[in-house]
Amino acid sequence: SPKLRTLARGLSPAYLRFGGTKTDFLIFDPKKEPTFEERSYLQSQVNRDICRYGSIPPDVQKNLELEWPFHEQVLLREQYQKKFKNSTYSRSSVDMLYTFANCSGLDLIFGLNALLRTADSQWNSSNAQLLLDYCSSKNYNISWELGNEPNSFRKKAGIFIDGLQLGEDFIELHNLLRKSTFKNAKLYGPDVGQPRGKTVKMLKSFLEAGGDVIDSVTWHHYYLNGRIATKEDFLNPDVLDTFILSVQKIFQKIVNAKPESFFYRGTSSSEKNGDPPLLTTTFPSALTWLDKLGLSARMGIEVVMRQVLFGAGNYHLVDENFEPLPDYWLSLLFKKLVGTHVLIASVKGPVGNKLRVYLHCTNINQSPRYKEGDLTLYAINLHNVTKYLQLPYHLFNKEVDKYLMKPSGPDGLLSKSVQLNGQTLKMVDDQTLPSLTEKPLRPGSSLGLPAFSYGFFVIRNAKVAACI
Ligand SMILES: *[C@@H]1O[C@H](CO)[C@@H](O)[C@H](O)[C@H]1NC(C)=O
Ligand SMILES: *[C@@H]1O[C@H](CO)[C@@H](O)[C@H](O)[C@H]1NC(C)=O
Ligand SMILES: *[C@@H]1O[C@H](CO)[C@@H](O)[C@H](O)[C@H]1NC(C)=O
Ligand SMILES: *[C@@H]1O[C@H](CO)[C@@H](O)[C@H](O)[C@H]1NC(C)=O
Ligand SMILES: *[C@@H]1O[C@H](CO)[C@@H](O)[C@H](O)[C@H]1NC(C)=O
Repeated sequence: SPKLRTLARGLSPAYLRFGGTKTDFLIFDPKKEPTFEERSYLQSQVNRDICRYGSIPPDVQKNLELEWPFHEQVLLREQYQKKFKNSTYSRSSVDMLYTFANCSGLDLIFGLNALLRTADSQWNSSNAQLLLDYCSSKNYNISWELGNEPNSFRKKAGIFIDGLQLGEDFIELHNLLRKSTFKNAKLYGPDVGQPRGKTVKMLKSFLEAGGDVIDSVTWHHYYLNGRIATKEDFLNPDVLDTFILSVQKIFQKIVNAKPESFFYRGTSSSEKNGDPPLLTTTFPSALTWLDKLGLSARMGIEVVMRQVLFGAGNYHLVDENFEPLPDYWLSLLFKKLVGTHVLIASVKGPVGNKLRVYLHCTNINQSPRYKEGDLTLYAINLHNVTKYLQLPYHLFNKEVDKYLMKPSGPDGLLSKSVQLNGQTLKMVDDQTLPSLTEKPLRPGSSLGLPAFSYGFFVIRNAKVAACI
């Protein structure tokens, strides 16, 4: 879909992780014929610039859109019953996935099936080898993972694999990569689930065995159990703070297992489906998503992957009609304004942890308006009344651009659309995102945040040495 590509391109540079539970039930079949849709897609791009014309005919797209709810039902049922079926994918599926990522300016991370096992419980890499060979032949540039939430393989597939074995499996994969055109490709793992007792133990032994071959430690985190959580839990700052403890648990294991490598190795976390269904696609989700991005950066996590861009379930960024949801708009604004250099900010005064602030150098690559030395402050107000922030004395006379985000329309907090500085955000057309326009404030203005809203404030000409 050209529209989905436009939305994805808005988030570039970024990773596109192809993974999840289904990862461990997918088998590459190079002999499998393309489906009807894949064939018509491939035909549409013969002799043409793939990235400009690689879209399927409108009637075929319509069909796919009509079929999607049925596929979604099947996927959700498997997930609910914890009974998963193997499926195969063809060379054209790989082509379409790669083209989507590459043409959207996203770096593809492909999760390989870790449940293909030999009789003595080792990873059987023969299917991965077929895929690597194919991707090499096409000059695809891909990073790799192996397995998704291996700590729950027993629950999902009746197979138990310990951290030690998984570490050895990663070494095997690393060797395959080294012997291929993927010599310099990145390898990430182990994508363990929520860091609790057994899972953390598994991470520890995995790192001891395979820690040397991965470029980044990955794990999954979500705040709440969606089946029992309420809106109040979701907007509770103490719940948001539990993320800090989870991260510390992971870091502790990394430090213990690999003290020498801790500081140059990035880590990533992936958001998952634990949160209350209705809330994850509406405005409150953006408040927790922004807080997770802020806390992650402050704790030194370099990459946060959000499940999902598009997919089955309730936690996507883009809905089934390819309409962007509140978390998408937040992600877009975040990419535009927030740089990778992280500073510390805090709120002075008797406010507790409901008014949450984060400070980075401004991302100067996406807007000619901003330059080196500028600051981006972002703030979340979890109070049910408006709160005002005042910049400290030395920044008091600076010009500030405000980007205030609030829910839009009659559904209030449960709205699926958002307004930026009072203007409802929507795509201009399938190829064009709206411009995200600032509201300049007079120097010395206080920064107002209505109840349950968030905002970005770019402090211009701040000339902060750390940002130059
Ligand atoms: C999937 O295929 C693999 C390899 O053939 C097999 O070992 C495994 O049992 C299959 N899993 C399911 C759920 O059918
Ligand atoms: C990736 O996209 C670029 C255009 O953005 C194109 O030139 C290049 O050929 C693509 N790579 C592959 C392997 O398709
Ligand atoms: C690995 O899987 C392939 C394909 O299913 C099979 O032919 C091969 O015998 C397996 N190898 C081992 C060592 O189990
Ligand atoms: C492959 O992609 C990575 C980003 O994931 C990039 O750093 C690297 O330069 C690319 N390699 C090639 C050969 O294009
Ligand atoms: C705001 O929250 C307080 C408790 O924190 C509550 O007493 C008060 O009624 C709430 N006000 C509104 C307008 O919801």
